[in-house]
Amino acid sequence: MMKVRMIEQRDNGVCLFELKNDEIKVITSNLGCHVLSVFTKDREGNFGDVVLGFENVEDCWHGDGSYMGAIAGRVANRIGDAKFELNGKTYELAANNGKNSLHGGIKGFNQKIFKYKLLEDGIRFIYLSPDMEEGYPGNLYLKVVYRLCDNTLKMEYEAVSDQDTLINITNHSYFNLSAGKDKIYHHQLKVKADEIACVDENCLANGTFLKIENTPFDFKEFHEIGERINDDHEQLKLAGGYDHSFMVKDEEDQLILYDKETGRKLTMTTTLPCIQVYTGNFLSGGCNGKGGKPYENRDGVALEAQFLPNSIHIEKEPKVILRKGEEYEAVTTYRFEVE
Ligand code: GAL
Repeated sequence: MMKVRMIEQRDNGVCLFELKNDEIKVITSNLGCHVLSVFTKDREGNFGDVVLGFENVEDCWHGDGSYMGAIAGRVANRIGDAKFELNGKTYELAANNGKNSLHGGIKGFNQKIFKYKLLEDGIRFIYLSPDMEEGYPGNLYLKVVYRLCDNTLKMEYEAVSDQDTLINITNHSYFNLSAGKDKIYHHQLKVKADEIACVDENCLANGTFLKIENTPFDFKEFHEIGERINDDHEQLKLAGGYDHSFMVKDEEDQLILYDKETGRKLTMTTTLPCIQVYTGNFLSGGCNGKGGKPYENRDGVALEAQFLPNSIHIEKEPKVILRKGEEYEAVTTYRFEVE
């Protein structure tokens, strides 16, 4: 039985919602569309929370750099030198990550209060990002919908702008299928990709690509995340672990994460061309998580479906450009099973 309800409404405009069916329970907020908890069953049928999340979602307003569970945008990941050119005009962004722009700027979509509408099978969040917010042109109308369908959490994104602009929306949930019992080193990962986007010393995609065969990035068959994470590979050293976009095939079930202890298996399918796999290399020292517990590096792995990071500086025809009046649409699903 599907149930959608508001569970809390605070004076500051922040609300919490619960989406629940027999297989999954999600706690989410209209603040940054944060996914705060996702409860799924293990092999024994016990529910456990498989994402990292804030104890108080408002902590995202106080400079936390983890983006746990949030929607990142207007442009997720980094834009080199915090500027870009569009239609012959240069747009300056805030350099909030060294000299680069990260996840939409100083006050990205993760920090915005969205309007909301409860649906029969989920919730719709709506945000109007005004022209030149965080330096991006165009009034952008963004819809984010979270739905539950049996054992699947579905995220749908839609946007339209009244001027040419950039867009790259992702959900920044960190998963831990042991429900916090263990770090993610023993999680097994499989990704349908032959290449990753390489990064520089600031984790900025630099326009080169690595064929992953015979490298620690080859996840065509299952490997534990921890198996090769400390290998002497330049790309692992630069990022302090995995923090790379896998160029996924245009197929279903592009990524599988599996925890053999609990039997939980997460399968991701996206219409987007990349999945950023980020092994929580900088999690320590951030805000406290649920139960007031400080998170540490490698407590979760973020799986972020998106366009190519730094696309505007790399791609000949950058997919991140959204033309005036055109519709941006993307769908990413997360299917939870036990095995
Ligand atoms: C990821 C990014 C990481 C880090 C993280 C937020 O999307 O790839 O380098 O910035 O967000 O802490």
